[in-house]
Amino acid sequence: MSMIVRRLSRAATAGLVAAAALTAAAHSAEAADTLGSAAAGQGRYFGTAVAASHLGESDYAATLDREFSSVTPENEMKWDATEPSRGSFTFTSADRIVDHAQSQGMDVRGHTLVWHSQLPSWVSPLGAQDLRTAMNAHINGLMGHYKGEIHSWDVVNEAFQDGGSGARRSSPFQDKLGDGFIEEAFRTARAADPAAKLCYNDYNTDGVNAKSNAVYDMVKDFKSRGVPIDCVGFQSHFNSNSPVPSDYRHNLQRFADLGVDVQITELDIEGSGSAQAADYTKVVEACLAVSRCTGMTVWGVTDKYSWRSGGTPLLFDGDYNEKPAYGAVLSALGGSGGPGDPGDPGDPGDGASCTATYTRTADWSSGYNGQVTITAGAEPISSWTATVTLPAQQSVSSLWNGTPTWSGNVMTVRPSWNGTLAAGASTSFGFTAAKNGSDAAPTVGTCTAS
Ligand code: XIL
Repeated sequence: MSMIVRRLSRAATAGLVAAAALTAAAHSAEAADTLGSAAAGQGRYFGTAVAASHLGESDYAATLDREFSSVTPENEMKWDATEPSRGSFTFTSADRIVDHAQSQGMDVRGHTLVWHSQLPSWVSPLGAQDLRTAMNAHINGLMGHYKGEIHSWDVVNEAFQDGGSGARRSSPFQDKLGDGFIEEAFRTARAADPAAKLCYNDYNTDGVNAKSNAVYDMVKDFKSRGVPIDCVGFQSHFNSNSPVPSDYRHNLQRFADLGVDVQITELDIEGSGSAQAADYTKVVEACLAVSRCTGMTVWGVTDKYSWRSGGTPLLFDGDYNEKPAYGAVLSALGGSGGPGDPGDPGDPGDGASCTATYTRTADWSSGYNGQVTITAGAEPISSWTATVTLPAQQSVSSLWNGTPTWSGNVMTVRPSWNGTLAAGASTSFGFTAAKNGSDAAPTVGTCTAS
């Protein structure tokens, strides 16, 4: 099929996609009992890498469709899969994944346009000028085919070396085109699909180190010069040699502070049982604590198809049973549904409850800081919702340790990272309000918990 025809038919399905997304959203509002719906409750997506070859396996597809709200083709959009010989594009396998995702109302992350690995053999021998032309044509070919259908693209993957130097990795692109190839790829990508978020993606950049510092400097430079970059992906492949860094959250936050979204793009953590579950909790909590961390993707549905299957690094075992890590992620996302989960409406004796109390913690002529303390009742809770009604003149300029949504002057606040509370335990969120002539106190409504 010619590319033009394919592109038109892809665009024609857009209406159906929107309808499917609405159905998914309506479902998630009822019960946050899956990874995708719980993450949606936190304003995030929860995705997985997918292989087209497994979509025909009913348990694989059922688990994927039930739990995940985003997919990343694991190999099907890479250069060797999409342009095996120059100028001749094949999209069959990638289209299967995109079509499946759209039929389920899932987002698609595009992975990846320019990478030193999984390159077809015709690319490396090209001379500089020819390589530049080929790189731009590859970006245009892929992004053109999926124009308007990809949530975020990993425009450039793994361009920095491991180890202490912070140097660029040797690759045909780096060696022949120099440092500027990354900028050129991003500029070409922006023009090819202005609606897609454009990400730089890498591994061993999850904590602060020489490599992440080098990426940080590049992103800062791009932002200062107007080079189009929207997001940074942190692959987050962890094991005992490369554990979840203690400064993970801080590192995500410093990138976010540059004015880009951050995403956890290829999460897997080798291990098992409660230790693995605890590591997964750390990752989810770090993302939820950073308001610009827009979503998380695990690198596969089931351990049996993981690229590191020996390390059993995923959330479902080889028989699609939920592992302890699954429960930990669901609970960290504020979800409810696992047997024994305090928020599971099906559990006997479920009595999740909370109270909310307000105090003014700082006051000045034009404004004040308010704090709302949430205290769990007699049972542990995995999420809470509190409403705060402000006097009509007042406006809130910032809010921390909570996620607000607004309706008129009523602010509904849900947890950012602090949904899970033991019985009787407390957390609080704070906000800064401008008085605009009214010094009256806000009213705090009923607290609800799950
Ligand atoms: C891996 C896939 O999972 C494997 O199936 C394939 O054989 C090699 O690539 N960083 C990336 C991913 O950006 O594309 C890689 O995926 C894993 C490391």
